[in-house]
Amino acid sequence: MKKGEIFGFLGPNGAGKTTTVRMLVGLAEITSGKVEICKYDVSKNRKHVQRLIGVVPDISNLYSELTCYQNLLFSAKMYGVKGSIARKNAEEILSFFGLERYRDMKFKALSKGLKRRLTIAAALVHNPRVLFLDEPTSGLDIISRRLLWDELIELNKRGITIFLTTHNIYEAFNISHRVAVINKGKIVVVGTPQELGRKFSVKEVIEIGFYPYNPEPRDLLRSIKGALDVRRSNGYLELIIDNEVDALEGVVSYAKHKGLGISLLRLKEADAEEVFLKIIGERIDR
Ligand SMILES: Nc1ncnc2c1ncn2[C@@H]1O[C@H](COP(=O)(O)OP(=O)(O)OP(=O)(O)O)[C@@H](O)[C@H]1O
Ligand SMILES: [Mg+2]
Repeated sequence: MKKGEIFGFLGPNGAGKTTTVRMLVGLAEITSGKVEICKYDVSKNRKHVQRLIGVVPDISNLYSELTCYQNLLFSAKMYGVKGSIARKNAEEILSFFGLERYRDMKFKALSKGLKRRLTIAAALVHNPRVLFLDEPTSGLDIISRRLLWDELIELNKRGITIFLTTHNIYEAFNISHRVAVINKGKIVVVGTPQELGRKFSVKEVIEIGFYPYNPEPRDLLRSIKGALDVRRSNGYLELIIDNEVDALEGVVSYAKHKGLGISLLRLKEADAEEVFLKIIGERIDR
């Protein structure tokens, strides 16, 4: 990871994302190799490194019975910041996340999205240079997710290097300067979204219903330009495509050619996890 970048660490469930983060930040033993953050060896200078980094675990480490503000002060103390500096930082970070009005509310009373933002705020209260986040947007709705993306981008612009894990291709590509794809504990590929874009060019799934009957999936797959895969789903066919215009045109002319009608034709967002599992050579058994 380079200074100043947003580095996305993309992998399916169980790939080893959390384990990697824990090793990078000195919470888990490093079995081989070495981690350096800002030129400090993490396993040898744990205390020093703690002050330079903020860590947002996948499950919040905040206290449900403490208020937001108390949680921030507590977190500041854990990172070695006390007194008036801690109070000033806590106020600043609350305002950065627009959480001032929740200041005195207990953590447990917050919504999931707010809990996540406060957990991130707590990891920033000592002004770290590097922020590690483990699946920061998982379980958030699309509005909270986008808000969080914007906030992470803004933090990065202010000079914080960001490492985040995700299982969502779009998220990784959308906000990262570089992405590493991890599977089964190994990095499969690293590159900028542009570089990886060629390998990950899959964008969407179209759901199609034909009448009076659906054609043989493989025949459909062969006949549509840009179709990458096809599968049956609830009486319809799902076509995985990399270019929606080509594919939609292709489906329409295919139906005409076969004398079939189209009862349903709509674009679905691809299941990112499945798509990239496919790209890295895995299969999901249905
Ligand atoms: N490099 C590795 N070699 C062997 N086993 C590993 C490696 N990294 C992680 N594991 C093991 O794989 C399992 C899953 O790892 P981990 O929890 O880090 O995955 P994850 O990517 O965070 O998954 P999730 O998306 O479910 O959070 C754990 O039991 C862990 O000990
Ligand atoms: Mg994990």
